[in-house]
Amino acid sequence: MTPICFDEYLKFLADDGNYVVITDENVAALYPLGPAKKIVIKPGEEHKNMQTVLEIYNQLRDMNITRNSKIFAVGGGVVCDIAGFVAATYLRGLNITMMPTTLLSQVDASIGGKNGVDFGGLKNIIGTFRQPKEIIIDPKFLRTLSPEQMTDGLAEIVKIASVTDESLFEILEDEDLSSLNGEYLWGVTQIIALAADAKTNIVRKDVLENGIRRILNFGHTIGHAIELSCGVSHGVAVANGMLISTKINERFFEGSRKVGERIEQLLRKINCPLDLKISTEEFAEKIKGDKKRESSFIRFVVVPKIGCAEIKKINVDRLIEMIDAVC
Ligand SMILES: NC(=O)c1ccc[n+]([C@@H]2O[C@H](COP(=O)([O-])OP(=O)(O)OC[C@H]3O[C@@H](n4cnc5c(N)ncnc54)[C@H](O)[C@@H]3O)[C@@H](O)[C@H]2O)c1
Ligand SMILES: [Zn+2]
Repeated sequence: MTPICFDEYLKFLADDGNYVVITDENVAALYPLGPAKKIVIKPGEEHKNMQTVLEIYNQLRDMNITRNSKIFAVGGGVVCDIAGFVAATYLRGLNITMMPTTLLSQVDASIGGKNGVDFGGLKNIIGTFRQPKEIIIDPKFLRTLSPEQMTDGLAEIVKIASVTDESLFEILEDEDLSSLNGEYLWGVTQIIALAADAKTNIVRKDVLENGIRRILNFGHTIGHAIELSCGVSHGVAVANGMLISTKINERFFEGSRKVGERIEQLLRKINCPLDLKISTEEFAEKIKGDKKRESSFIRFVVVPKIGCAEIKKINVDRLIEMIDAVC
């Protein structure tokens, strides 16, 4: 991660004609992105698909982009995921710099090199691993986020803290998170730095997610199914996925009630809606399509103690029964 702010970077971009900025309409309307070539996509998860990728390929071709050109992704997790995929595949790979503009993308989506798009009603089912050249995090972008968008990012921070770092979890428990926004830059910067470091440390140990990196999927098997079947944001879906996972851990694996309570309290503190009406039937199919599934079982992350995670191999049908039992 490079400690350089966006304003400085814009000056640099202005001098270098070899960049293409990929952003979305909302970010382009809020921020001056300088004279660099730009590709502006439609915002939202519903546009995180191959159609958008093909449109970007077309524009890159029309711009005569060459292999020494660089992509500069400025946006939330959707822009980071799509631009990352484009950079990994166009001309067999272009360098990409990530400039994440939501809290969620600053602590999670821009870090670790996973990219991709949704396909066939399933989340992130097409994608690659390719590390960005740089990630530039400027908390000033958070000033234009809504409270709900802050909650989304905080939900991923709760996830990272739950599985890797009890001291970060305690900071979140103690901190007045209502004042945590782009105006209160010192507090938010500290928390972003801790969460981003915690994620980076795990990714370094297991770049291609064959082992320990899987713990970062806490709440995601169920969360992705909720995101697609209930149409809620990624952070809210993951928060509900974490809550259901803690209930499964308590009910079926003798998990501690105290741990589940602490996670639930923190999710309530960040104003996460946790009372979604979830019909298991509706998203059982999505869980069956989860890309982390291996033949008939799935690796399911539970948190036996804050800051630690365990991966359980569970038969997919059994997992659906467990979800049904606790929802
Ligand atoms: N690759 C990974 O490792 C990884 C990790 C976590 C999440 N993700 C993905 O990230 C996505 C969610 O990311 P997200 O929550 O950032 O969603 P998003 O990219 O859809 O952004 C949310 C909204 O905020 C707007 N926005 C962006 N920056 C803004 C700013 N500074 N001010 C005001 N509005 C702004 C966007 O236009 C969009 O409307 C999901 O698709 C998820 O799968 C990927
Ligand atoms: Zn996530």
